[in-house]
Amino acid sequence: MRLMVTGGLGVNGSWVVRELLGRGHEVAIVENRADTSLIEDVAEKVELVVGDICDGEELTRAVSRLRPECIIHLAAFVDCESNPGTAISVNVGGTAAVCAAAVAAGVRRVVYTSSKAVYAPATGKHGFPAYEPISEDDDLRPVGMYGITKAAAENVMEWYGRNSAVECVSLRFATVFGPGRLQRHSGPINTYSSMIELPASGRAFTVEQGGDERDDIIYVLDVADAVACVALAPEPPRHHAYNVAGGRAVSVRDFADAIRRVIPEAALEVGPGLNPMKMEASYYMALDGTRMEEEFGWRPRYDVDRAIRHYCELVKSRLS
Ligand SMILES: NC(=O)c1ccc[n+]([C@@H]2O[C@H](COP(=O)([O-])OP(=O)(O)OC[C@H]3O[C@@H](n4cnc5c(N)ncnc54)[C@H](O)[C@@H]3O)[C@@H](O)[C@H]2O)c1
Repeated sequence: MRLMVTGGLGVNGSWVVRELLGRGHEVAIVENRADTSLIEDVAEKVELVVGDICDGEELTRAVSRLRPECIIHLAAFVDCESNPGTAISVNVGGTAAVCAAAVAAGVRRVVYTSSKAVYAPATGKHGFPAYEPISEDDDLRPVGMYGITKAAAENVMEWYGRNSAVECVSLRFATVFGPGRLQRHSGPINTYSSMIELPASGRAFTVEQGGDERDDIIYVLDVADAVACVALAPEPPRHHAYNVAGGRAVSVRDFADAIRRVIPEAALEVGPGLNPMKMEASYYMALDGTRMEEEFGWRPRYDVDRAIRHYCELVKSRLS
């Protein structure tokens, strides 16, 4: 199959591209920058179109020329609190432009990469200490601008799904960790990746607080597998949204212990309490992944130990 991936040079996109190529598919990337550092190993095998998803005419021309059967839409703006206007333009307007281009070019399916940030903060039974899993039918009441734009983009997807022949589906990722994140992002959202990547390269890392907090964390290779699974499914998706979850909420302390099993000399400290990422509202939560499993037979392939081993091997091979 021929697929187009927006944001294919980013963290999740680079692994999605590898997953699709590995399964023998043809991939074109639409990106607003030409930095191929995260896909160096496969850059020769993809067509790269440099362009802005917010430019509807340019995008429609690109989609009409590339003629993909499916568009996987990962391009997004993440610094949303400081730049709400850009966040709304790229995340909501850009998603609308992708859908409109898909309709114009007769694309069969658009897979949108959404987030657990669309839900309400995890309080009561969904928060510490019970972490009762949140299902796709639970309330969407995002509080941050990132979640607000992701929820609005899901609504745009749903509208196009109802009002065109394009199959529109959104995947809500749990907290993603894995190779590439430290190159692309910075700050507390990198906590889980930093806990592995810095000790694996001989550097120290301290999580000041939050050892008791649990979160549903998912390895980036599982994210790529889930995206490919939905993009390539022969039948139209039955729902407009699916949680893509790691399967259980893991405490920061247990995660650190798992890292020490792989890197016994790890200079890794974890303070007690909750809220390791010092978020204003709690988005540490467990997501119910039943819908993905029942409909697509998808489950994560990497438990925490396997993910840490794989991640460490990649860090070591990069250093050698
Ligand atoms: N924790 C996570 O990583 C996580 C969790 C949930 C959902 N998501 C979603 O997954 C997707 C990818 O996230 P990521 O972590 O790989 O981000 P990323 O920033 O690494 O990748 C996004 C890519 O989109 C490109 N892009 C941005 N604006 C563009 C524009 N206007 N036109 C064309 N390209 C543009 C960027 O150049 C970048 O390569 C996003 O939609 C994000 O919201 C990520």
